[in-house]
Amino acid sequence: MESATNPIAPESYISKVWPQGIFKDRIVFCTGGSGDICSSQVRALVYLGANACIVGRNKDKAERAAASIATARPGAQVLGIGNVDVRKMEDLESAVSKCVSTLGGIDFVIAGAAGNFLVPLVQLSTNAFKSVIDIDLMGSWNTAKATMAHLLKSAAKYPGAGGRILFISATLHYTGGPLNTQGVVAKAGVDALSAQLAIELGPRGITANVIAPGVIEGTEGEKRLFKDARGEMVKRVPTGRLGTVRDVNNATIFLLSDVGDYINGTVQVVDGAAWRIGVQV
Ligand code: HXC
Repeated sequence: MESATNPIAPESYISKVWPQGIFKDRIVFCTGGSGDICSSQVRALVYLGANACIVGRNKDKAERAAASIATARPGAQVLGIGNVDVRKMEDLESAVSKCVSTLGGIDFVIAGAAGNFLVPLVQLSTNAFKSVIDIDLMGSWNTAKATMAHLLKSAAKYPGAGGRILFISATLHYTGGPLNTQGVVAKAGVDALSAQLAIELGPRGITANVIAPGVIEGTEGEKRLFKDARGEMVKRVPTGRLGTVRDVNNATIFLLSDVGDYINGTVQVVDGAAWRIGVQV
């Protein structure tokens, strides 16, 4: 287990090309921040100078993830707020207000909270369908809505380098596929939502983009989707390996750093070209 004196080795989650301190004074607000992918994204941003607030439904998990992420950089401030359900606007508003009063604002938002399961369409209940739409799509909207005023302030404060929102989506809806109607519909909505923000808030200095990860090794998604078929899966990915959190983090840094200033309304797929041959998540 890592500690303040023995943090996770940065080379395991970030490329060496990114200069230290590029995110100094920036504040990240992340939903789903206790999860495998988003906690690693936030760790990378914190390592490069940011402070952060991660929110999740489970209080212990959020606090433990925040403490772990804080070891990435001496002096880092990382707030873990639990009991936040992205389906509830009031939970998000309260978390945003704690983030702003403790850390001083919000410059980057990662909307990563998601929930899903595989189920045949004929067995999918209306409530099950609604649950995934509510968490993935409504949760993304609620996150954008709750943080928007702060993103606008950030865009004005750091022209070309603040006011960024990143949605975590998927590739499964590019073609659709069996057993995941609720996920396909929700993630298509997330991509559309991001594009709308890009169009309407672009003139006010905000960028909105999507990262669509493929199968990322070691994550809950990998374990749940491919528990017995990992070897077969690796053989099929055109790039010849599964993705890593490091791959997702490097794309995240690119989009949130000032080199990403003119990148707005895009989807960055990080899947080794897997979706093109039908390996979609
Ligand atoms: C069919 C299911 C189901 C399943 C839940 N439901 N799990 N239906 N197959 N495996 C149905 C329930 O029966 C209920 O419908 C409705 O969904 C709501 O379920 P609740 O448990 O009451 O909802 P809630 O507690 O809010 O849970 C939300 C959730 C849950 C999305 C259903 O799975 C969740 O919270 N997951 C969070 C963690 C997670 O999913 N991580 C995955 C990240 S990886 P009825 O009709 O009975 O009332 C990832 C990659 C893809 O997303 C993974 C694909 C497998």
